[in-house]
Amino acid sequence: LSSEKYNIKRKDFGTIKSSDVSYFKSILNEGRVLTDENDVMPYNIDWIKNCRGQSTVVLKPQNTEEVSAILKYCNEKRLAVCPQGGNTGLVGGSVPVFDEIVLNFSLMNKIESLDDVSGALICEAGCILENLDNYVRERGLIMPLDLGAKGSCHIGGNASTNAGGLRLLRYGNLHGSILGIEAVKADGTVIDCLRALKKDNTGYHLKHLFIGSEGTLGFVTKVAVHCPVLPKAVNLGFFGVENFENILKLYKSAKSSLGEILSAFEMADFDSINSTVQNLNLPNPIADYPFYVLVETHGSDDAHDSEKLSRFLSKEMESGLIVDGTVTSEPSKMQTIWNLRESIAGAGLVVGYVFKYDVSIPLKNYYDLVPILRKKVGDKALIVCGYGHVGDGNIHINVTVPKYSQEIASVLEPYIFEEVSKLNGSISAEHGIGFRKPKYIHYSKDKSALQLMKDLKQLMDPNGILNPYKVLPDTI
Ligand code: FAD
Ligand code: MLT
Ligand code: ZN
Repeated sequence: LSSEKYNIKRKDFGTIKSSDVSYFKSILNEGRVLTDENDVMPYNIDWIKNCRGQSTVVLKPQNTEEVSAILKYCNEKRLAVCPQGGNTGLVGGSVPVFDEIVLNFSLMNKIESLDDVSGALICEAGCILENLDNYVRERGLIMPLDLGAKGSCHIGGNASTNAGGLRLLRYGNLHGSILGIEAVKADGTVIDCLRALKKDNTGYHLKHLFIGSEGTLGFVTKVAVHCPVLPKAVNLGFFGVENFENILKLYKSAKSSLGEILSAFEMADFDSINSTVQNLNLPNPIADYPFYVLVETHGSDDAHDSEKLSRFLSKEMESGLIVDGTVTSEPSKMQTIWNLRESIAGAGLVVGYVFKYDVSIPLKNYYDLVPILRKKVGDKALIVCGYGHVGDGNIHINVTVPKYSQEIASVLEPYIFEEVSKLNGSISAEHGIGFRKPKYIHYSKDKSALQLMKDLKQLMDPNGILNPYKVLPDTI
């Protein structure tokens, strides 16, 4: 249990009575109120199997009015609620800690409209990212974000975590791509900021409060998202590189050689790729190298783009920055390469427990912590690997151990956060703070900023019922 593992005390919320369950059944219906222990169990466990809550009730509203009615009731009764999208979050934010009611968005999956001229898509929070991408692709557009969890994560979960993903370097983050939001406050008030306008400077931009606040200030019920045009030409290169220094040189060169068509620049070290090859049996199209780089282009002219990428490959093979590589525009080959990269997240889970870090570090020090951690944990770890979004200065470091142990945890934490802070980085680049990191947030936010965050929480959720034990530390 998360509460025991992390020594957390239950806050003074109401406990669920049978009259509460009857009320929920009256506003939803029997089938959308889960109370059977086996039915509820999956909603209590997070994707990485690190956190486990004790909820006894899962609610599945079908529209905003139902979310509003649930929250109004819970606020009056001081019942705590944990919002849940696709439950792919990596910091334990999407599962309860004690007996919080789980409000799962999976049935709020309607697409309301798509303007294929402006690119504005309006849909409910529970739409699965991949389904949205398939829908808009048929109409000449793409979703502005893509990530390994696309087959399960919801757009509402993406908004609530301000998810980054594989093409942030090209299409920007969700504070920009999300044009508008409809959200429900703790007291049930519906906040309608669902305008699909690119420009709307009418006072405070309230959508930003809900983007990245991980369900602690309100529940996102609908979003308006700006979808970029479907690229006519997509090319992908997968390269072997000798050392990290050369990756930085290659990134600089890629920006200048590929310019406006560059859509992703990702890296993975040998141990990252090797873990997907060994643990998941995925094929690696090139030989073993200390580092790998994945460069993608999105453009409008296939001949021009593939020539540009091939020229980049030849030039940098000659310079020695690339030791070996392959370039392709064939969908199945591109998929093989992306699979290799996107599967790193889950590869360690097959063999043990994964301590997962998601940090921003200035590029010149981007990879520094991986060898340091390798040395520090020594043979207690099965794998220590580094991979991530070079274009965004965001590295993921996974430390895979046979079994969770407090001893290894205390070798890693708070050490890693102290080091990130010394390097002027961020202790959470894209996954959020969730349940796992509130006590480390001060490494990246000063006291005055944290106080303002607390004031906002107090204003919007005075009873603290929205996703408690997450994001904000009790004391600052
Ligand atoms: P959940 O996991 O269900 O919830 C995430 C948080 O948002 C929780 O705090 C939850 O309470 C809250 N929440 C969910 N829905 C709502 C709502 N409607 N209103 C209010 N709060 C809500 N993240 C990245 O940024 N970049 C990546 O590249 C990336 N890749 C991933 C790859 C894999 C294989 C996996 C498993 C995860 C990855 N993630 C990545 C992490 C994760 O943040 C994203 O998967 C995603 O944004 C979470 O969406 P979800 O619907 O699963 O949300
Ligand atoms: C990724 O970039 O693969 C994701 O953020 C998931 C992870 O950190 O493993
Ligand atoms: Zn990532």
